[in-house]
Amino acid sequence: MSVKNAMTIEFLRSAYGGESMAHMRYLIWGEIARKEGFPNIAKLFEAIAYAEWVHARNHFTVLNGNVADNSVMAGGVFGNKVTAENLIGAIIGEDFEVDQMYPVYLETAKFQGEKDAARSFTYALEAEKIHSKLFSKAQAAAKGGIDLELKAVLVCPVCGHTILNEAPDKCPVCGLAKEKYQKF
Ligand SMILES: [Fe+2]
Ligand SMILES: [Fe+2]
Repeated sequence: MSVKNAMTIEFLRSAYGGESMAHMRYLIWGEIARKEGFPNIAKLFEAIAYAEWVHARNHFTVLNGNVADNSVMAGGVFGNKVTAENLIGAIIGEDFEVDQMYPVYLETAKFQGEKDAARSFTYALEAEKIHSKLFSKAQAAAKGGIDLELKAVLVCPVCGHTILNEAPDKCPVCGLAKEKYQKF
């Protein structure tokens, strides 16, 4: 894993910061969802928190060798509301990553010939598209006072691909085998 160009390095640091904060935010909101009587929405938050950890770890790993004490700007929603509103915050965050952040970061990495960074950004972009949809389903349920219906949430530990109920035979994003998925 390596990265050379300043712009891509900057974007990796920024994405690492954003994913780290999303990870923490979702764990906090999961705890709130559980207290409000939405155990499945809590499980979704916890599974997606793990997916964001996977992304943070991937970006961090590509940054190997870039040791410095950098401040990182990271956009995000701050503070707690009730679950139906926390989910709106989650959707806003995911959509920003899907519509603006990761496409720009990815094109920059490609332009600069940064293969490892491009892979890390692609993995995150593909997972965030799914996260936005899953949070929207959860939001529709929570708004009506009901929990999400699901048996389990499965997350690919390599790319963060997230799916309800059962893992596919192979991860559609990175190709990992079904039995390696992390189950929540
Ligand atoms: Fe996400
Ligand atoms: Fe994967």
